[in-house]
Amino acid sequence: MLKVGVLTSGGDCQGLNAAIRGLGKALLCTFGSDITIYGIEDGYRGLIEGNYHRMVPHDFSGIINLGGTILGTSRQPFKQMRSMAGGTDKVKNMKDNYNKMGLDCLVVLGGNGTHKTANLLSQKGLSVITLPKTIDNDIWGTDITFGFQSAVDVAANVLDCIHTTATSHGRIFIVEVMGHKVGWLTLHAGLAGSADAILLPEIPYKVDNIVKMINHRSKEGKRFSILAVAEGALSQEEAQMSKKELKAKRAAEPYPSVSYRLAHDLEQATGHEIRVTVPGHIQRGGNPCPYDRVLSTRFGVAAAQLIKQKKYGYMVAMRNNVIVPVPLCEVAGKLKTVPPDCDVIQTARDIGISFGD
Ligand code: F6P
Repeated sequence: MLKVGVLTSGGDCQGLNAAIRGLGKALLCTFGSDITIYGIEDGYRGLIEGNYHRMVPHDFSGIINLGGTILGTSRQPFKQMRSMAGGTDKVKNMKDNYNKMGLDCLVVLGGNGTHKTANLLSQKGLSVITLPKTIDNDIWGTDITFGFQSAVDVAANVLDCIHTTATSHGRIFIVEVMGHKVGWLTLHAGLAGSADAILLPEIPYKVDNIVKMINHRSKEGKRFSILAVAEGALSQEEAQMSKKELKAKRAAEPYPSVSYRLAHDLEQATGHEIRVTVPGHIQRGGNPCPYDRVLSTRFGVAAAQLIKQKKYGYMVAMRNNVIVPVPLCEVAGKLKTVPPDCDVIQTARDIGISFGD
């Protein structure tokens, strides 16, 4: 009897349930009654505390289009567990529970932080396979993560909605897009949502350059401008600062996020009315788009195939449209940022979109 545990960890995103479904159905089709699948609850916390349940075929039905995760999730298990009684050695707890459950393999669905822990567990001798999920698309080793395309849809839709009100009022709008420290989501949503400027952490901006873009549009008779701004966007001045200096600068400012400071700077420089829209967690809520349902299913099924081959210590990835396993040790601790010279950025520049640089 093969025993497989599955958990979802870190911030949720669209497509987690579709991936669980793909994995579960493929395992059941391959191993029939010779497999037991355990759903580990609330991410690594469930593995640390030993909270899990046996999953039955019915659990994998009717969830391909369901957002969130049926298994629950948690962030930073090590930080949270530090304060709990008896919780001093989390890795040992995880290993003990893995052995207690008699697992042959642990399948982990998660983002960057999750992959560091998965690699650690793999190095400690656990048989681990991971699937890359995040709206940020910042996991090294895969061209795309599930959740990303659904979040692009949401953010592009926000930009579409802002267009109608911005044109009516002749206003300048900033739409702040998630993405943590990288600009993939802002770049793709900004291009799809017809933003006039796209500001990314990877291409530090200068306020003067954005003012020039706004003035140029005004001269052309365009009464409105829309900026897609990554939550991690940096000015050129900030990009020169150390992490510590930047943290201190931001802490001293009265603005809740980068967009509000930029709005203030632009208001001062242009005399225009600026509005800020922050869609926030809506970007990773709701149902996965069809692209993510297909991608998640393919990733889940690929994980089942690796289990069949007893090939552990890998992340399932998509490279050049082909699903491939990538060694976990190559993925852990690396961030996939947007190359400033990539073709999507060039495409945007070629149609006159400003990056503020
Ligand atoms: O990593 C996904 C993400 O949504 C980021 O884009 C964002 O910076 C962060 O998570 C928000 O984290 P939390 O869910 O803890 O508020």
